[in-house]
Amino acid sequence: MRYSKLLIPTLREEPVEAEVVSHRLMIRAGMIRKVAAGIYTYLPLGLRVIRKVEQIVREEMNRAGAQELLMPMVQPAELWQETGRWGEYGKELLRLKDRGEREFCLGPTHEEVITDLIRGEIKSYRNLPQILYQIQTKFRDEIRPRFGLMRGREFLMKDAYSFDRDEQAAKASYDKMSKAYHRIFERCGLKFQPVEAESGVIGGTYSQEFMVLAETGEDSLVACDSCGFAANVEKTQGKTCPRCRGRLITHRGIEVGHVFMLGTKYSEAMKATFLDHNGKEALSVMGCYGIGIGRTAAAAIEQNHDTKGIIWPLPLAPYQAHLIPVNEQSERVMITSELIYGTLSNLGMEVLIDDRSERPGVKFNDADLIGIPYQILVGEKNLADGRVELKERRTGKITKVTTEEVIDLVKKLVLPDARPDES
Ligand SMILES: Nc1ncnc2c1ncn2[C@@H]1O[C@H](COP(=O)(O)OP(=O)(O)O)[C@@H](O)[C@H]1O
Ligand SMILES: [Mg+2]
Ligand SMILES: [Zn+2]
Repeated sequence: MRYSKLLIPTLREEPVEAEVVSHRLMIRAGMIRKVAAGIYTYLPLGLRVIRKVEQIVREEMNRAGAQELLMPMVQPAELWQETGRWGEYGKELLRLKDRGEREFCLGPTHEEVITDLIRGEIKSYRNLPQILYQIQTKFRDEIRPRFGLMRGREFLMKDAYSFDRDEQAAKASYDKMSKAYHRIFERCGLKFQPVEAESGVIGGTYSQEFMVLAETGEDSLVACDSCGFAANVEKTQGKTCPRCRGRLITHRGIEVGHVFMLGTKYSEAMKATFLDHNGKEALSVMGCYGIGIGRTAAAAIEQNHDTKGIIWPLPLAPYQAHLIPVNEQSERVMITSELIYGTLSNLGMEVLIDDRSERPGVKFNDADLIGIPYQILVGEKNLADGRVELKERRTGKITKVTTEEVIDLVKKLVLPDARPDES
C-alpha cells in the first residue's frame, strides 16, 4: 500500500487526554480517533491491527470446533427480564425504546440471546455439545471509560458460549476453549499468563483470566516460580503457593480474555432444556468465553513500545514491512524502491511504501512511531555501492545488503509467521 493514499494522521505532540502509553501511541500513530467518551473510530491502520487480532481469534475458534454466528447488538428487554438481569444490571446497561415504546438494550454481553436461540433449536442430547461464537460490538455504559481501546464503552469482543449435556462434557468444552486461548495469545506474539480467578482450588478451577504481562497493566497477579500456579492478587493470601509451597512472584498485567463455567444459571432461568438419553428433560450446562479484541491490540502496545513509538509483534502489525525511499527525487532510488515493493508484494507480503515527498527525518520518525517491525531504507549513498538498509524496529539494528539479499531476508523474516502451522 502507498502511504500517500492512506489516511495516517500522525501527531508529534502528546495527546493530553491520554493517560496510558497504548492510548497515546494509538492516537499519535493515527490509528484511532475519539468520537465521544469511550467511543472511537478505527482509522485504516488501526482497523488493520483489529482485523489481524480477529483473524487469529477466528482461526483458533474454528480449529477448536466453535461455530461463528452473529447476534444482534440491540436486544429486547423481555429476554433480560427472564434472567432477572434487566433489574440487576444497573446503569451499565444502555436502555432504549423503539417507536412503539418497547424497551431494548444495547448488548453488553449475549448470554440471554444465545440461550434463547439454543432452547428453541436444540431438543436432544444428540445435538450437543454446541460451541458458538461471534465477534461483535458490545456496549457497556462504564462510569469512567478511559485508556482508549483498553476500557471503552463501545468495544469489540469475541464472545463464545458452550452448551453441554452434563458437567463433565461442559468441562471438556471449557478445556478446549482454554487451550484455544493459549494458542491465540501465543500466535499474537504476546507474553501472557493465565490466572485462576478463584484461587486455592486444587485440581483446577472453572474461571481463568488471560493476562498480558505489562508493567503498565491495571491488574496485579502472582505466579509461582516453581509449579506454574498463577492467580489474581486479591484471590491469594501470603507469599507462598497454595499448591506447592513455592515462592509467589508479583506481576502486572492486563486482562485480555476470560473463560468461565456458567453451569445452569441461564439454562435454568430461561428453561433451556433437552431430552437426555433416557428421554428425560435436562438443563444444558453452559460456559462463556470472552476476548477483548481492541484491548488485545492495546495490550500488545503496552508490552511492546519504546520512546519512539510502537513496536508491533509481527503477527499484529498493520503491515509487515515499511519501505522508505529516502529521496523520492532520485530516479535511482525510486526505481529500486518500486522494484523491491513490487517483488515483496507479489510474494504475498504486506508492504507499506512511504511515497510521500517528505523530508527523510519525517519519514523515519513516522516509521518508528507506527512501529512496523521491518524497515527497508533506500537511499542514494548506499545505492552507490548497490546496497539498501534493513532496519529492525525493535533493536534498531541496521544491516546493509543488496537488493536481492533484502528481498530474501525479508521473505525469511516475514513469511514463516504469516503462515500459521496447521498442526
Ligand atoms: N470496557 C471494555 N473495553 C474493552 N474491552 C473490554 C471491556 N470490558 C471487557 N473487555 C474485554 O472483554 C473480555 C470479556 O469481558 P468480561 O470478562 O465479560 O468483562 P469484565 O472482566 O469487565 O467483567 C475481557 O477480558 C476484556 O478483554
Ligand atoms: Mg472478565
Ligand atoms: Zn507452586
